[in-house]
Amino acid sequence: MSEETLKGQTALVTGAAQGLGKRTALALAAEGVHVVVHYGSSEHEAKELRAAIAAQGVRAWTIQADLSQPEESERLVGRAVELAGPLDILVNNAASFDPSTPSNVTFDQVAKSAALNAWAPFALSRAFAGQERPGKIVNLLDTRIVGYDRSHVAYILSKHMLAVVTRMTALEFAPAITVNAVAPGLIVLPEAKESCAQELAQALPLRRHGDADDVVDAVMFLLRSKFITGQVIYVDGGRHVRESAGGAQ
Ligand SMILES: NC(=O)c1ccc[n+]([C@@H]2O[C@H](COP(=O)([O-])OP(=O)(O)OC[C@H]3O[C@@H](n4cnc5c(N)ncnc54)[C@H](OP(=O)(O)O)[C@@H]3O)[C@@H](O)[C@H]2O)c1
Repeated sequence: MSEETLKGQTALVTGAAQGLGKRTALALAAEGVHVVVHYGSSEHEAKELRAAIAAQGVRAWTIQADLSQPEESERLVGRAVELAGPLDILVNNAASFDPSTPSNVTFDQVAKSAALNAWAPFALSRAFAGQERPGKIVNLLDTRIVGYDRSHVAYILSKHMLAVVTRMTALEFAPAITVNAVAPGLIVLPEAKESCAQELAQALPLRRHGDADDVVDAVMFLLRSKFITGQVIYVDGGRHVRESAGGAQ
């Protein structure tokens, strides 16, 4: 068998109270995985999610940490293990997506994005590997690391850093742990407005936007695989191919 069942394992999902993190946490629960729901400020949503997960017959916990603060990132895995026992799965999903351009970006913006979007996944991954047991890590990248987005400079720099972290930790933590990434493109969550996305989607090779399930399916595939590490799956309707071909359709 090239795939494994995740049933009975325990996962920590960062930024799980809403968005793609929430959908990932629910998909894990549906597969029989116990879930530690990390949140930053969305306490109410995190508690609602914990109840929804528990209703699926698995265990769930909530845990708060501001992952823009390195000392909180360093401690999160240890705190999660105290709550839930050893972790088998880590999904580094939490991130901020703040605007900044080449002409106005500041050092503080770059440092803040790097702390949350790259250092936190690295610190969590290192602590996760420190458990000295087999495990799976998936990092959430962004298809923009292939193209050029001049309106989110600090964010893009941090996601490039996370792409390097993915490869570095895949080698450092092998053979016990696999480390992979999913790079979403234009994803429309159920709560978002469709109209603008439909228009933007026309510029993509597949002429459609993605849904949360498209991303979650890729995350679950990587978590089930036993022989894939250091890989990035672009879930972006072909955008990275067009970008790497210089923008040609
Ligand atoms: N959605 C897309 O189309 C898309 C496209 C490309 C890449 N991605 C990537 O996919 C991942 C999920 O995206 P999303 O759209 O679902 O994001 P989102 O809705 O903005 O959620 C991100 C989560 O990160 C958490 N977070 C933000 N700042 C934090 C902090 N300082 N400390 C702790 N947690 C913090 C938030 O938790 P609280 O609400 O609890 O504060 C939030 O739930 C991200 O890594 C993103 O870069 C998404």
